[in-house]
Amino acid sequence: MYLSCMKHLVKEEQYQKTKAIVVKFGEPGGTGELLQKKLLERSDKTYNWVYDYWLEDMYLNQRLALPVNSNPAMVFPKQNFKDRKDSLRFAAHLITGVLEYKERIDTRVLPVDFARGQLAGTPLCMKQYYRLFNTYRLPGHKRDTLVIHKPGSIEQEHIIVACKNQFFVLDLVVNKKKLKEMDILTQLEKIVKMAENSEERQPPFGLLTSDGRTEWAQAREVLIKDSVNRESLAVIEKCLCVLCLDNPSGMEVGDTSRALLMLHGGGHEKMGANRWYDKPMQFIVGEDGVCGTVCEHSPFEGIVLVACTEYLMKFMTGSPSKMGRATSVSELPTPARLLWKTTPHIQDLLKASAERLQRLVRDLDMDVHKFEVYGKEFIKKQKMSPDAYIQVALQLAFYRCNGRLVSTYESASIRRFHEGRVDNIRSATSEALAFVKAMTDEKDSEKMKQLWDAINAQTNYTITAITGLGIDNHLLGLREIAQELKMERPEIFTDETYVASNQFILSTSQVPTTVEMFCCYGPVVPNGYGCCYNPQSDHLLFSVTSFHGSTETCSAVFIKALDEGLVEMRDLCRKSNKPQSIN
Ligand code: COA
Repeated sequence: MYLSCMKHLVKEEQYQKTKAIVVKFGEPGGTGELLQKKLLERSDKTYNWVYDYWLEDMYLNQRLALPVNSNPAMVFPKQNFKDRKDSLRFAAHLITGVLEYKERIDTRVLPVDFARGQLAGTPLCMKQYYRLFNTYRLPGHKRDTLVIHKPGSIEQEHIIVACKNQFFVLDLVVNKKKLKEMDILTQLEKIVKMAENSEERQPPFGLLTSDGRTEWAQAREVLIKDSVNRESLAVIEKCLCVLCLDNPSGMEVGDTSRALLMLHGGGHEKMGANRWYDKPMQFIVGEDGVCGTVCEHSPFEGIVLVACTEYLMKFMTGSPSKMGRATSVSELPTPARLLWKTTPHIQDLLKASAERLQRLVRDLDMDVHKFEVYGKEFIKKQKMSPDAYIQVALQLAFYRCNGRLVSTYESASIRRFHEGRVDNIRSATSEALAFVKAMTDEKDSEKMKQLWDAINAQTNYTITAITGLGIDNHLLGLREIAQELKMERPEIFTDETYVASNQFILSTSQVPTTVEMFCCYGPVVPNGYGCCYNPQSDHLLFSVTSFHGSTETCSAVFIKALDEGLVEMRDLCRKSNKPQSIN
């Protein structure tokens, strides 16, 4: 399967070399057989043989900065706040919803999810939900750690509020009483006031979390020499979530600018330092109505994030704010501002982090596009899988921009398995290549046949991946078990084709929503695209990212090609109008 995924993506000579390596690896009594045996032994001893390997490979070993490169964001509908107080009311209501949702998690009353779409009806593993509010990604010199906090005393429950780059502790239980929404609002008002006080202002330490993981780990080592910093870090690392109260960014508020503000905060001069990127759940409430979440990705997938945020959105619109009615905790202590001890060396570190974040901000080329010509209902009417159709359209767009296809990643949920996260649907199939070529050269009847072949290949790969039979996790397992056995890295994993197969120039993911909001994330390689899409009945929403630094990419050009290709595909379907069944 690996060979057939890569054959048309590398030069013939390289392919022949890879084929020989793969055949040798798979020979009876060869390295592959030994590693497979060891992997089977591992699967007997673990709940999920790939989970740890996958988590390290996908996230914890990665050294790139979290904003843009790793943390996805969910952009909420633009809010129309009358004034700051109005935005704080929204924030208090949101946090009340978070606490209600957390209670559902803690009391285990969340209903089990069931698969939809392909192979609908199977129950899905719920473990990711139990990591929404009790996890923290701790930076390490070579590898980060996903810390999972055990449930502590409820009295220690707190959130961190970021305002003007200052961090405050908002205790959620005072005098053994849980804070009501009105209390939360009172505390937020106090925090905003305290943040105004320039005499007590602390340096923007959140910036350090926006840096490369090794840089941040090194900086953290310097910080923790001082007990004041140690204590502040400990409080942040144990919070349920971070609430960022943003000032107006001054940017024109559109879908793209809102997405940018979620992903990187607009850099240190805007809201980029008003964040703590290690914390998995970070809510942003901007005075200018720009709201959403930016999430550390290692504990959960976008689909779980959607479930949580949709709950919150429905809570916000469905249950009126309880400001007036609730009895409040009478004596509310002033929330504590987190203090930092700084030195000239730490100041230099902050400056360096700020500069690196700024570079990332300047480099990100983002385009959020609503394709309104049709949506998934049209595709379903053609008796085609909407997801497969969109993937084929993405291949067409890439081909038209670059004249070739490249290793593509589409996340496939494997929550059918205990602790399952994702595997990869390799969407750059040979059938997709034949189709995109046919779209330039062939007659309509030929194009339609190629489209069907491409859709069928994509749909079949999807089913393969979601049932745990994809190749990426398996190859990863074989590679990692060789490492554990201290074997020299088998040639199959040092081969040029393997390296290319893991350079995901096109990194894609479907994150559908049922309420108005959308997800976005950055590219995973310097010359690549990140493309998150949200298929709706009558339109398709795409968030496309790339880096200005690459001469090979341009988000607007990609969007234009995508737009045109989608229209051509519809016209082709309409002309042919002969639905066939999937193999
Ligand atoms: N004819 C008509 N309708 C069809 C069809 C066909 N041939 N094939 C599928 N459909 C319908 C489905 O029944 C489904 O209907 P629904 O909207 O009523 O549920 C709908 O079209 C969507 O199905 P499809 O487009 O095939 O996709 P899917 O929902 O099965 O999703 C994946 C495919 C790969 C996206 C999904 O399995 C998955 O893994 N999602 C998780 C991705 C993820 O983790 N993202 C976040 C990463 S951070």
